Amino acid sequence: MPVHGLTPILLCLLPMWRILTPVSSHPQHSRCQLIQRTALCSYGKLTSVPAGLPDNIEELQLNYNHIETLQDNSLSYPSLSILSLACNSLEKLESNTFQDSKWLENLNLANNNLYIGYQQTSHALKTLSRLRVLDLSENKLDEEMATTLLQNLTSLEYLNLSGNLLQRLDEISFRDLHQLKELDLQRNIIFEIDNAFNSSPKLQRLNLAFNYLPCLTDFHMTQLVVLNASHNFIEWFISRPDLNDTFQLETLDLSDNKLLFFPFLPEQSHLKNLYLSHNSVRFLEHLAGNATFPKSATTVEFYNMNKRVSNVTAKLWDESLHGDISSVEILDLRANQVDYFPEGFLQKMSALSRLYMCTNCLETLNLTSEQLSGSLYELDVSNNRLNQIVADMGAMAALGNLTYLNLSLNDLDQLPSGLFSSLPSLRSVDLSYNNIDICPPEEAETSTDGNSACVDWKNIESLRQLYLKGCNLEKIPSFAFAGLSLTHLELSDNPGLIVEESFESLSSTLQNLGLGNTQIQDFDFSHFQSLKSLNISGNSLGHLPPSLLNLDLKVLDLRDNRLSTIPPGQANVLAPKLHTVFLTGNPFNCCQTEWFRTFETTETINVVGQSDIECEDLYQTTRRLENFQSFLCWEEGRESILWYIMLFLSISLPFVGILIVAFITFKPKMLQKSIKKKCLKPTSY
Ligand SMILES: *[C@@H]1O[C@H](CO)[C@@H](O)[C@H](O)[C@H]1NC(C)=O
Ligand SMILES: *[C@@H]1O[C@H](CO)[C@@H](O)[C@H](O)[C@H]1NC(C)=O
Ligand SMILES: *[C@@H]1O[C@H](CO)[C@@H](O)[C@H](O)[C@H]1NC(C)=O
Ligand SMILES: *[C@@H]1O[C@H](CO)[C@@H](O)[C@H](O)[C@H]1NC(C)=O
Ligand SMILES: *[C@@H]1O[C@H](CO)[C@@H](O)[C@H](O)[C@H]1NC(C)=O
Ligand SMILES: *[C@@H]1O[C@H](CO)[C@@H](O)[C@H](O)[C@H]1NC(C)=O
Ligand SMILES: *[C@@H]1O[C@H](CO)[C@@H](O)[C@H](O)[C@H]1NC(C)=O
Ligand SMILES: *[C@@H]1O[C@H](CO)[C@@H](O)[C@H](O)[C@H]1NC(C)=O
Ligand SMILES: *[C@@H]1O[C@H](CO)[C@@H](O)[C@H](O)[C@H]1NC(C)=O
Ligand SMILES: *[C@@H]1O[C@H](CO)[C@@H](O)[C@H](O)[C@H]1NC(C)=O
Repeated sequence: MPVHGLTPILLCLLPMWRILTPVSSHPQHSRCQLIQRTALCSYGKLTSVPAGLPDNIEELQLNYNHIETLQDNSLSYPSLSILSLACNSLEKLESNTFQDSKWLENLNLANNNLYIGYQQTSHALKTLSRLRVLDLSENKLDEEMATTLLQNLTSLEYLNLSGNLLQRLDEISFRDLHQLKELDLQRNIIFEIDNAFNSSPKLQRLNLAFNYLPCLTDFHMTQLVVLNASHNFIEWFISRPDLNDTFQLETLDLSDNKLLFFPFLPEQSHLKNLYLSHNSVRFLEHLAGNATFPKSATTVEFYNMNKRVSNVTAKLWDESLHGDISSVEILDLRANQVDYFPEGFLQKMSALSRLYMCTNCLETLNLTSEQLSGSLYELDVSNNRLNQIVADMGAMAALGNLTYLNLSLNDLDQLPSGLFSSLPSLRSVDLSYNNIDICPPEEAETSTDGNSACVDWKNIESLRQLYLKGCNLEKIPSFAFAGLSLTHLELSDNPGLIVEESFESLSSTLQNLGLGNTQIQDFDFSHFQSLKSLNISGNSLGHLPPSLLNLDLKVLDLRDNRLSTIPPGQANVLAPKLHTVFLTGNPFNCCQTEWFRTFETTETINVVGQSDIECEDLYQTTRRLENFQSFLCWEEGRESILWYIMLFLSISLPFVGILIVAFITFKPKMLQKSIKKKCLKPTSY
């Protein structure tokens, strides 16, 4: 029994060895930083787990090292509960790795090569009976490897498998994960899911984004709270129709898919956030019973890989299949093909607060019949084909919470009169790129149908931001904005706009003013003391309006004008104040660029597109101002050289004169001698 006899000695030596190792044989310890019970050893070029750390550490961070294998018993830290080994080159965990650290709850193995040694690794993981959080993302795992690795992990609550190579999931995949609450399966290549989550009745958050799913049918995960299936190829989303339970679903993200129909949502749910942007959703109920679309086309059959047929009787024309949308607060339908809302559809969403309909095919919006919710806060119907908005007094009065309204990029040439003044919370209106005029002071002409071809902006107290870009405005009547406290006014892209004194009344509040591409000239900005951002691009300005210099401007857009220079005095005033300036598209003079050096050397200013600023040299050649060498400015150069020559001459000429006079008067003999010498020299013929 010699071995037994030795053990006490070894046990005694062990603590001493522990004390010694940090200094002597294990320099790796020095790559770790200890903060209370956390050892931070990331970015340490370590090839193994450092030994000799205090026994009682609870967290060990070993990310971004070069560890390839976790060896048996290498983690001799019995209190360890968090271990992170992300971004190593980890190929396997030996079966007894966790022999001495059985309390581990949180293990991060992201971004490694576990596909190589997954089988041995799975034996190691099985020993962790308390493991709650496991990150296996980015490990090139296919579904069989994942299934093997996840065997017996019955205590797991959070699992990350994103960025792997999973293709097909079924009831075996997550068989033992009875406690699972959150599962991230983003960025795999999953094309089919067949009853994969039946063993995880507690699953609340599931991320399936960026996969290859063609449809989600028979959806019956009543306990799920967040489902993210964005960026797939989903054409159909169909909930199991006959379920009596209330779904816990609150957030459903199906954006960037191929949906043709509004999803068939659960009949009872708490759905609040419904993201459907970038699909091909449209409503087809008006085609119901149409001879061209025979009624027989109402049942859709779905097959899966196991040849299991599921008949989903989707009554495509039936409105009730929209399911329970009564709790929806955010409906994002941007970039779809909606050309109308089915009757009562918007009305059902009595808690709706944000409706995003940008880039669809709406032609009319009847606020009277739609009966939008009183809690509506933001309505974006920009970039549709709206030529009509209908609203009676009652409908307008109901929109008491409407704060942001975007109607831009439509074909509107009239609006219900008094629309904006009846919305008490209205803060921002975008009417850009429509054909709407501003009413002259006398009349707000109303046609018989209650519509008006011009908008009266006076006295809308809550309004702060008004966008009227590209509305073909010709003249803004004086006092058009009286009683407003606008901070943003955008009037760009109205060529030939006459503004007169129309927005003097805004001088104390206005912070952002857009007058780009309006051909405005010599406007006096001196009253606008709050102005922070000004856009006067595209206006053929030959010089900077001097009234700008007294303002505390932060952003100035001067692009596409006719500026040839900015006088140094002005540049010196502007440079320290401005944060951002746009100057491209001006015919600057290459030889008057002192302003450019001023801007260039001021650190607080961002000259946008600095390298694209061009200038014209003496030969009318366009050059990049940044690279232009000023000695090439001949005229300027010659002038200065002449100046130096003249200066030199004016100083040196008197001396030269004195020298000559002195030479002649005091050395006449020398002169004679030299002449004589020359003359007396014998010449040889
Ligand atoms: C692991 O789970 C399987 C069934 O899933 C079971 O047969 C086996 O006994 C379990 N092993 C351990 C070590 O718990
Ligand atoms: C899962 O891992 C990926 C990549 O490592 C990461 O981007 C993502 O945020 C993780 N998911 C969760 C829910 O933490
Ligand atoms: C769904 O996942 C994608 C990709 O990770 C993410 O960009 C998006 O914000 C998520 N959606 C929600 C509602 O969280
Ligand atoms: C559904 O629930 C209601 C009330 O909760 C109950 O009366 C009805 O019998 C249930 N139906 C089925 C099919 O479970
Ligand atoms: C049937 O469909 C055609 C083509 O879309 C449409 O013009 C017509 O109005 C529809 N008829 C009925 C009765 O809805
Ligand atoms: C599905 O529906 C079709 C047509 O109604 C029927 O012929 C078929 O037998 C059904 N299949 C199953 C599995 O119910
Ligand atoms: C708008 O809806 C109301 C109420 O349903 C209806 O009376 C009116 O005719 C509709 N207007 C238009 C132009 O469709
Ligand atoms: C108005 O909308 C905001 C933002 O969604 C919300 O916080 C507030 O509760 C709403 N007010 C009413 C009366 O609905
Ligand atoms: C209104 O919508 C257009 C187009 O979708 C967008 O470009 C613009 O920024 C929006 N306006 C505001 C004030 O957000
Ligand atoms: C200034 O207005 C022009 C014309 O509408 C526009 O193209 C440019 O983007 C605006 N500049 C800034 C900084 O928004």
